[in-house]
Amino acid sequence: MIRARLIGTGSYVPKKILTNRDLEKLVETSDEWISTRTGIRQRHIAADETTSDMASKASKAALKAAGVSPKDIDLVVVGTVTPEMCFPSTGCFVQSQLGIKTGAPAFDVSAACSGFLYALDIADKYIRTGGASKALVVGVDRFSKIIDWKDRSTCVLFGDGAGAAVLSAERGSKGVLSCHIHSDGRHWEMLYAESQCPPSPFDEKEHSTRYLKMNGNETFKIAVRTMGQAIAEALETNGLSPEDIGLLVPHQANRRIINAIRERLKLPEEKVYTNLERYGNTSAGSIPIALDEAVREGKVKSGDIILFVSFGGGLTWASSAVRL
Ligand code: ACO
Repeated sequence: MIRARLIGTGSYVPKKILTNRDLEKLVETSDEWISTRTGIRQRHIAADETTSDMASKASKAALKAAGVSPKDIDLVVVGTVTPEMCFPSTGCFVQSQLGIKTGAPAFDVSAACSGFLYALDIADKYIRTGGASKALVVGVDRFSKIIDWKDRSTCVLFGDGAGAAVLSAERGSKGVLSCHIHSDGRHWEMLYAESQCPPSPFDEKEHSTRYLKMNGNETFKIAVRTMGQAIAEALETNGLSPEDIGLLVPHQANRRIINAIRERLKLPEEKVYTNLERYGNTSAGSIPIALDEAVREGKVKSGDIILFVSFGGGLTWASSAVRL
């Protein structure tokens, strides 16, 4: 059976760091409130880096780790809701910046914080059906440009960053075991940002703001429920129990959400990867950055099962089980 084997990972976060103390100077908040309610202590913010710069740097590192030439990549899928431009896709920018094979399809998917797992699902299906042999999957977001830096209820939560993975069509038991992606558009108002483009002169609808808006409390509850469902789905599909999980890599939005999931699964702390204290919520970048760090820190070894789980604007939620 052909599977999409994960053969290399990479990540990139901007150089500029914004700490909770820095935020105390911008809005009425405190390091104590942010760290106890969310677990976040600092985040990286793009200054001279754009979305495609971050995506390309993460992708370059993933290609290097995989030992794969850009010329051998025949599919690029980028999860992002803060693309380089309205069009062309960030995928096309990555293709051109890295010299990826001319003619290989490169495109973006919009699923907010679930963007990487949506992209992974697409690439996995291409590979298993023979449509691609080596795919580059990227999750990247630059929320600093859609955040209202006067809104303390949202500006403390997010950071910028990118992560990437190279998948290769290989026979055997290693690779993507399952992907489950879901959405429920009825809840779009939980978390959204209007267009970054200026309104047309013919636009009759008044646009309130282009900034990110969020109903934090409701999002929190839905996140715990949907991520729990997505994990159960992954375990059931693969005939696994929580003890079989080598490492759970959840979307890094809030430590309290991650703890609730961990307690439900009765997993020890060392089996759940977290780095949100350093990066905040990097949206589509969150899972692949965590994956790359876990791989480089030796938290997972060949043959281990990694379980990814996410939720985000849409609403969207997803899970994926991968044998490394
Ligand atoms: N600093 C200080 N006080 C604050 C801040 C802040 N930054 N933000 C809100 N508060 C105040 C509120 O005004 C409120 O004050 P009040 O009681 O006087 O009215 C109080 O703190 C409590 O506010 P809550 O919103 O009830 O705080 P809560 O404990 O729910 O935490 C949080 C808020 C952190 C946003 C939480 O609800 C959460 O994490 N929700 C999930 C959000 C999330 O994960 N979003 C990402 C989705 S993924 C994607 O697609 C991008």
